[in-house]
Amino acid sequence: MKNTSGTTEQKRRAGESAADLVADGMVVGLGTGSTAAHAIAALGQAVDSGLDIRGIPTSFQSRQLALEHGIPLTTLDAVDAVDIAIDGADQVAGFTLVKGGGAAHAREKIVDAAADRFVVVADPSKLADELDYPVPVEVLPDARPTVADSITDLGGDPTLRAAERKDGPVVTDNGNLVFDCDFGAVTDPATLASDLSALPGVVEHGLFVDLADEVHVGLDDGVERRTR
Ligand code: 5RP
Repeated sequence: MKNTSGTTEQKRRAGESAADLVADGMVVGLGTGSTAAHAIAALGQAVDSGLDIRGIPTSFQSRQLALEHGIPLTTLDAVDAVDIAIDGADQVAGFTLVKGGGAAHAREKIVDAAADRFVVVADPSKLADELDYPVPVEVLPDARPTVADSITDLGGDPTLRAAERKDGPVVTDNGNLVFDCDFGAVTDPATLASDLSALPGVVEHGLFVDLADEVHVGLDDGVERRTR
């Protein structure tokens, strides 16, 4: 489920601002989505001009974009550390996020959490005082009914994400299904995150609790950088 209110210019400013943080020799986590795509494009231009980096993609989409933009790729098991990750978000409250609008949150969380510095790129429509965006939950296909019941018991309303140009559900890059779970206002994201993680059959959920180090918000006339 995507929030599509931000403008292309806002997203571009956010993505380029984060890409400016990348320096020679860095290993860079490459996020997924339309805002992270601007960072990948900017990094591709910098690589073209001689910047020496290696990227770790978080999805099929970011891998394809990185290849198109000529960014050399690597994997987590081939590096000692990830210097920086740049990724989008569906909603941002402080340094806690809802992610997974592109169903890539499982790999995104692995790479973003591994990074020494995790920079979120967003437009103003993503900002909130309190999280209330439906939380994506990736589930093993066999666990769909039991996880749906458990999410309801936790106070959520799970909707199986439907594909748009295919009959049936969205299937993630990992071969799983996604529930978008409306919990209303999430007053205690840490508790909800651990309750969701504890459910058998849940692969990953889209609550990124206190994980971001910086948020770059693209505005109509510049970028607002929020740091801890
Ligand atoms: C993908 C994500 C994206 O980063 C999130 O959906 C934001 O995307 P966009 O920048 O296109 O609004 O979490 O799983």
